[in-house]
Amino acid sequence: MTLEQKCPIIHFADFGDERGKLVVIEGEIAIPFAIQRVFYIYGSDANMVRGQHANRKSEFVLVNVSGKSKVYITDGKEKFFVELDKPMMGIYIPPMIWKDMYDFSEDSVLLCLASTHYDEKEYIRDYDIYVKEMWGEKC
Ligand code: TYD
Repeated sequence: MTLEQKCPIIHFADFGDERGKLVVIEGEIAIPFAIQRVFYIYGSDANMVRGQHANRKSEFVLVNVSGKSKVYITDGKEKFFVELDKPMMGIYIPPMIWKDMYDFSEDSVLLCLASTHYDEKEYIRDYDIYVKEMWGEKC
């Protein structure tokens, strides 16, 4: 499986009518995990880079519910980036994937759905340590 197949784009049900739009994301139905935590990132400057970590256990789905941002994704070998610019579109990120979020528009609200409660111990914030944990010392 390629990295892009491991981190698929997900399209959510979008119930639009003359009253406006309504997007639904149900845990374990639209996304592969039960949602334990929700947080959102807004007010980040265009030149700010967030994330810059991998998570040993957490799975995430990221959705720009307003505005847009980019997500750079790597496993230490493959890499790609995706632009999140639609409220009905998300990207699934499994455990042990390095991610950076950047190029935030002024109106960006980046919704993050997580499979776990917050635990700083499961974060890897040093890229070299991440690559070693992912691929072993030889990498
Ligand atoms: P951080 O992980 O640096 O955010 P990002 O990866 O999105 O750039 O988190 C910023 C701060 O918020 C840090 O002090 C930890 C805290 N935090 C929580 O307490 N709970 C959470 O669920 C998250 C994501 C962060």
